[in-house]
Amino acid sequence: MLEARKVLGADLFRVFAAMPEQYRRHGIGVYRRVHANGCFDPVVWQAALLHDSGKYDPVNGSYVMLGHRVAVVLLEVLPGGKRMLHRLSRRNHASGLVGWALYPFYLSRHHARLGAKLADEHGAATDVVDLISRHHNKVEGDERLAILQAADDKE
Ligand SMILES: [Fe+2]
Ligand SMILES: [Fe+2]
Repeated sequence: MLEARKVLGADLFRVFAAMPEQYRRHGIGVYRRVHANGCFDPVVWQAALLHDSGKYDPVNGSYVMLGHRVAVVLLEVLPGGKRMLHRLSRRNHASGLVGWALYPFYLSRHHARLGAKLADEHGAATDVVDLISRHHNKVEGDERLAILQAADDKE
């Protein structure tokens, strides 16, 4: 956590520190792999720590839990599952029981964009925001993105 605080600075560290422990651990894991792969670019370091921050909504405390992740993986391979997943991911607020149950699907689907917005609101540099927003995109020839995705894929 001390190292994350140093890498992120006070404002961005607040985003990181508020994340559920499993996401903090994942972010640190990706950061360590990026580091171990010989990357010494603070833009990639910050993006590594915060790339999945959009899976958590600090306003209402909702986040993508294991059950949602399993459901997403299953629906992506089942016949008609993608359409169903698309429908489940529409609820963009957590009010009521249905909202509470479905909102994490929305967070899961849109977490790259939401995480980028969160980082932007906390003063992240444009390159960091951009990297977070594209961390699931297939892009050729973007070295920073390739480093981040290579480290992310291993977990
Ligand atoms: Fe992600
Ligand atoms: Fe990730």
